[in-house]
Amino acid sequence: MYTIGIDIGGTKIKFGMFDEQNKIVKVEVIKTPKEAVLETMIETISAMGNEGEIQGIGIATAGIIDIEKGVITSAANIPAFVNLPLKTSLEMEFHVPVMIANDANSAALAEGNEGVAKKVSNFISLTIGTGIGGGIIQDNKLVHGTSGFGGEAGHMVIVHNGRTCGCGRKGCWETYASGRALERMIQENPALASKKMQPKDLFLNYNSNDACKEIIDTFVDYLSVGILNLQYTMDPEMIVVGGGVIDSSDHWWHLLQEKITATSTIPINIRQAQLKNDASMIGAGYLTKK
Ligand code: BGC
Ligand code: NA
Ligand code: ZN
Repeated sequence: MYTIGIDIGGTKIKFGMFDEQNKIVKVEVIKTPKEAVLETMIETISAMGNEGEIQGIGIATAGIIDIEKGVITSAANIPAFVNLPLKTSLEMEFHVPVMIANDANSAALAEGNEGVAKKVSNFISLTIGTGIGGGIIQDNKLVHGTSGFGGEAGHMVIVHNGRTCGCGRKGCWETYASGRALERMIQENPALASKKMQPKDLFLNYNSNDACKEIIDTFVDYLSVGILNLQYTMDPEMIVVGGGVIDSSDHWWHLLQEKITATSTIPINIRQAQLKNDASMIGAGYLTKK
């Protein structure tokens, strides 16, 4: 028997077919459809496994999800999916349980089941890419929260009346410590902007360029503030840091460690995520298991 784990992104959708141990047996990637969304989803899933072989479907996506109804209630990058009866339609079509969860929550499940947080019962996992996503695992269970918003750490305010966030609030963590925040800081520096610098160039030039060093130090500073807020709130055994920025962690991980050690008054255990780009899809494979 298999489960299907799906990661819906703004540009592509990844479908994984997983066996009982959640090993990937098949992957299908399609362009994110702008119309006929349900038809496309059903078609792709049907092509992956035979009837009776599939015992559950899990879906991971950025944004806010009504877990009970199984509806994505708001997600800026995938407008065609918003307010569609995804769960009920797929359940009616395939006669198996369907579960939708936030992408970072799903990534947390993956890290806990087979990544760096394996055998850790209480941890927080962060997915730092364009924005900042978070997932909380408490007593080995994912904390969806009352309305599926559990772990939306990227939108905790760390600067009162700070920068306007895509969510409409001001001063959210992800406007200071995400990939997009790095891009913004490059744009604010004419010398760096004219060189068409990318976030990864900032890391590469850390030792040779003062402006790059300043941006990275600022990024690490804000990153540490949010991470410590989470540690002081939940006191987890571990905080896992993943997402696109971890690809260049060789250049900044020690800076984060130093900053956190210097500014924390409580023990904290930060670790780099083990599962890279497929973490949300792999986690989706677990959503309907057990
Ligand atoms: C969204 C979260 C998501 C995260 C990572 C944030 O901007 O608000 O729902 O988990 O990005 O994709
Ligand atoms: Na989350
Ligand atoms: Zn926000």
